[in-house]
Amino acid sequence: MTDTPDPTSQTPPAPDPGPAVAALETIVSLSKRRGFIFPSSEIYGGINAVWDYGPLGVELKNNVKRAWWRAMVQERDDIVGLDAGILMAPQVWVTSGHVASFSDPLVECESCHRRFRLDELPGAESLTQTELRDPGIVDRLGLRCPVDEGKLSAPRRFNLMFRTHMGPVEEEAALVYLRPETAQGIYVNFRNVRESSRKKLPFGIAQIGKAFRNEISPGNFVFRMREFEQMEMQYFVKPETASAHFEAWMPRRRAWYEQYGVNPARLRFREHAPDELAHYAKKAVDVEYRFPFGWKELEGIHNRGDWDLGRHQQATGENLEYFDQATGEHYVPWIVETSAGADRAAFTFLIDAYREEEVRGETRVVLSLHPDLAPYKVAVLPLLKKRPEIVELCHRIRDDLKRDMMAVYDDTASIGKLYRRQDEIGTPYCVTVDVDSLEDHAVTVRDRDSMEQVRVSVDQVRRYLLERLGITRD
Ligand code: GAP
Repeated sequence: MTDTPDPTSQTPPAPDPGPAVAALETIVSLSKRRGFIFPSSEIYGGINAVWDYGPLGVELKNNVKRAWWRAMVQERDDIVGLDAGILMAPQVWVTSGHVASFSDPLVECESCHRRFRLDELPGAESLTQTELRDPGIVDRLGLRCPVDEGKLSAPRRFNLMFRTHMGPVEEEAALVYLRPETAQGIYVNFRNVRESSRKKLPFGIAQIGKAFRNEISPGNFVFRMREFEQMEMQYFVKPETASAHFEAWMPRRRAWYEQYGVNPARLRFREHAPDELAHYAKKAVDVEYRFPFGWKELEGIHNRGDWDLGRHQQATGENLEYFDQATGEHYVPWIVETSAGADRAAFTFLIDAYREEEVRGETRVVLSLHPDLAPYKVAVLPLLKKRPEIVELCHRIRDDLKRDMMAVYDDTASIGKLYRRQDEIGTPYCVTVDVDSLEDHAVTVRDRDSMEQVRVSVDQVRRYLLERLGITRD
């Protein structure tokens, strides 16, 4: 693994490819209109930074999570899964360093009392972490409130963990946290998983689940939320091999986004500066994506050293060392972590798949989603919904398909409109039943991307679609 080229090198910097969609609003309105993502509690005026996934969104996000699980667990012999609780013993978060250090720099306007994350204020975006902790920084840069130009306070650290109480008494002793990362559930189960699965190093534990952060300035739709989902994998390794494993995971994780259709020009690596590193990290590289609002983190890859297991071992007195039978050594494994957001990944796939094309003088909106990610794989459509035999054949075909894939029936518009609707939600294939189908027992199958139409006999439709969708079932 020593011959792996340094994938972080960005010299000369790649030219900015520009975003796939110029305005974020295009994706926000498509999401609402077509049922991907809705504001939470909307009829009550909404709640900031929480979003609900509609009928199509839940399919897309489930498909993203499935694709990740497939790559990280199903197709690997060295990684197993876990589903730990969101609530954990509160001491976990003291030991992990989150109680002391999981914070962002907050400033408050002295006139309107609005609060801002300092590093998101105009003029402060490129400050180093050291500068962000400097009490004199606001005055020195002359920063003012972006809303009413009021005087801003000196920065103070704001802890991002949500707190609640366990049991019927709301006292300090009953304090618990909503986990801000899923990783700690993996560390505290390290010994349970290793012993029960009899894994030898190097091996990994993967988990998908909710995480919560009381972000100071959430925003950009589902990019930064207060309740979100993570897809995290912790790879336990012999200490001196950690750097090599870190280098090996970087291109693998980038390739996963490319495999599912993200334009490689809109992905890049960015290494964290030493004073930017999270409290647990020895080294961190972000996979960044060119969002409509700039290059931003999509996934983090971290060398966490023995920070987590070492601290949990010290705090609990439990032995979390690994005994290497081959060498007779005992040591605390180091951890290489790949930490992705399920929402951020789904959002990225949605943005990157969006296209507007001119077709016969009209604008066609298409989501060119990878078929594995598309909410529906096929729509079965009647050319004439007034002909009961056509509708009945549609239902028969759909019933036959739905055991293997998400298949929908729609007859609520003319065929042209039905095609456009399916294009806009990324359905790879449409099957149309027409009058001829009743005679020749064949249907028209239309491809979303090329818009090509082929005639396929009814008894071959399922096989035809399974093959093209790469679903391997008889
Ligand atoms: N265990 C390490 C960890 O949590 P992180 O860089 O803080 O690392 C990992 O978070 C990923 O989780 C991010 O790359 C992002 O995809 C996702 N994520 C973090 N905060 C988020 C938020 N407020 N809303 C949506 N996704 C978030």
